[in-house]
Amino acid sequence: MDTEEARAIARAFDPNRLNAGFYEKPYDTYAALRTFEPVHRCADGSYFLSRFAHLDEIYRDRIHFSSDKKAVFGPKFGQDSALYEHHTTSLVFNDPPYHTRVRRQIVAALSPNALRALEPGITALVDGLLEQLRERREFDLIGDFAAAIPVEVIGNLLRVPREERAPLRAWSLAILGALETELTADQHAHGNRAVREFTAYLRGLIAERRRRPLGATDLLTRLLQEAELTESELLQNCVFLLNAGHETTTNLIGNGLYLLLTHPESAARLRSDPQLIGTAVEECLRLESPNQLGNRLVSQQVTIGGVVLEPNTYLTLCIGAANRDGEEFSDPERFDIGRRPNRHLAFAAGAHACAGMGVARLEAQIALLRTMQSLPQLHLTGGAARARRARFRGFVSLPAALS
Ligand code: HEM
Repeated sequence: MDTEEARAIARAFDPNRLNAGFYEKPYDTYAALRTFEPVHRCADGSYFLSRFAHLDEIYRDRIHFSSDKKAVFGPKFGQDSALYEHHTTSLVFNDPPYHTRVRRQIVAALSPNALRALEPGITALVDGLLEQLRERREFDLIGDFAAAIPVEVIGNLLRVPREERAPLRAWSLAILGALETELTADQHAHGNRAVREFTAYLRGLIAERRRRPLGATDLLTRLLQEAELTESELLQNCVFLLNAGHETTTNLIGNGLYLLLTHPESAARLRSDPQLIGTAVEECLRLESPNQLGNRLVSQQVTIGGVVLEPNTYLTLCIGAANRDGEEFSDPERFDIGRRPNRHLAFAAGAHACAGMGVARLEAQIALLRTMQSLPQLHLTGGAARARRARFRGFVSLPAALS
């Protein structure tokens, strides 16, 4: 792409009107935006930001930027819709003091000790799935592997009975799918139905936990006893927790497998030096960030990159672009599983930084390393299909085989 073409693409960029090619490969567009329009004004008056330094500053600043999305989600979902109630009640789209109260309990339940306790179960789960792949010879690395891990881990964390977990993934996809920049009537209806069904299901689980609390290490018991939440707040935060860890972690594992299988020299390096798994997962998070877009609302006038942003301006923060910014990362397009430092923003930063990052890292480290070690003959067979989503980046299917 020459300079004039890149400048024109950046100037015309509209996140509400993306073309099919963008979903496949958004990175040239992001590079054009970073270079020519780092604080880009969109047709609807919102701004799209793509430089690492700007995102890092905004994520850490609670004075000028708010996470409260009521003003944005009212017109998007309709104020009396189930999607509106859900997304405006979960902690991620709120400011203090409510956000702090809920977050404290989640962070306490996901302590380093709690994570250590999860490790043997995740390893056994991954090994069991790999054994099934070995028997099948041909399979889909998303449906038959990556997607099966988070649903178990997050289901275990909230102690959802195993036989009741089947609908969780579809509910989660529908509810988070409604956050896409472009929302069809179908996605809207689907999302509303999923919130209603999910909360109806959780009422029973919560009633059971009220009757039989499980102690301070149990996430749901903590939220019930310590966070002083109304019934709706409790329900919506549980829905959020169950959703937050699903598609994102599935995509991290799927994107990681894709990167390793398309970079055989990196896969070989990991096999010969398994200690690299920590930095390898960070590199997958950076290069193919599962959560590509975040949002903030300007709460006080502020200047970013020379552009004055007025209160109530809606910002889209492009994590996917920031994580390939050459001002922060050397040789940013290169997949380097030993990269250090790697201060990526895949989990955002600041007060709302992902509360489940330890769980996600653990799942991905175990899944990627054990797959590479125990299936050295694994290869992609073509026909990988991406979801048509700009916010959440991942594959819907990744056909593969052993030979
Ligand atoms: C690779 C997987 C994951 C990615 C890429 C990811 C990404 C993110 C990002 C970018 C945010 C910040 C949103 C914002 O403020 O705009 C966030 C928040 C959050 N995530 Fe994750 N997440 C992942 C997995 C998980 C898991 C497994 C859990 C739960 C066990 C989880 C729980 C949460 C919670 C509770 C928040 C809200 C934090 C707050 O608002 O204070 N996430 N995540």
